[in-house]
Amino acid sequence: MGVNRPPDAAASLDTSVPHIARVYDYWLGGKDNFAADRAAAQQVIETMPDILASVRAQRAFLGRAVHHLVTAGGIRQFLDIGTGLPSANNTHEVAQRDAPQSRVVYVDNDPIVLLHARTLLASSPEGATAYIDADLRDPGKILAEAAGVLDFGQPVAIMLLGILHCIPGRDGPAALVAQLLAAVPSGSYLAIAHPASDIAGEQMSQSMRQYNEQAHSPVTARSHAQVSSFFAGADLIEPGLVQLHRWRPAAGAADTDRDLANYGGIGQKP
Ligand SMILES: C[S@@+](CC[C@H](N)C(=O)[O-])C[C@H]1O[C@@H](n2cnc3c(N)ncnc32)[C@H](O)[C@@H]1O
Repeated sequence: MGVNRPPDAAASLDTSVPHIARVYDYWLGGKDNFAADRAAAQQVIETMPDILASVRAQRAFLGRAVHHLVTAGGIRQFLDIGTGLPSANNTHEVAQRDAPQSRVVYVDNDPIVLLHARTLLASSPEGATAYIDADLRDPGKILAEAAGVLDFGQPVAIMLLGILHCIPGRDGPAALVAQLLAAVPSGSYLAIAHPASDIAGEQMSQSMRQYNEQAHSPVTARSHAQVSSFFAGADLIEPGLVQLHRWRPAAGAADTDRDLANYGGIGQKP
């Protein structure tokens, strides 16, 4: 499957307001960001310096989660929604290192991610990758297009890392997750990373308020109980929903004692 690129992808880029994909890219040390993104990202850093450790921990969680799903979970299919700009250790790279036949469908709604999607399509010859330009709020479109690459008769890992906080309560994030889970068979997995509202709560709410004053799409941190509720149709595997740098950390990992306001967990559909 090729890149689904609408003709106006570049034209729809508004570089005058911060976008979460480019802000996250800046925090990770990337170069695909503009002045408005950098200003918003810097403001968050000033209010909440741990954001830098938190985003690095999120990428590391992505790597450990995918490795675990392939090696211990036997998963060979991934639906990675809220892909972000290509970075080190993208989902297909981690999965195909362990199992070259892995098939990965990426989904994002940001025009600049779409422009860089080619990097995400460099699949191993045995596997497959695809990119869908779609919004998480349209699971019907995502599932219909993903069915061209993924076999929904076999287990799929649904990856929602750093995206559900971009879906405000009024857009029904729990119902969207439930719709995706309903489309995959028993034995499938759901992985979530989500900023926490109940760790460093004051810093988090202030930094999100400042960000939301500038961005078109608001972000929302959620409590442990709220993020846990997204796993309603799945059984959390060990160690449950935890600060994501403590989710099966690599042997000798530093800094697991410090708090990071970012939850991560994986559940399996019974
Ligand atoms: C913070 S980045 C996370 C990237 C990656 N998943 C990770 O954890 O490293 C969030 C991504 O979600 C995308 N996103 C936000 N809201 C979305 C939506 N409603 N539909 C699809 N993608 C969305 C953004 O464009 C951005 O690329």
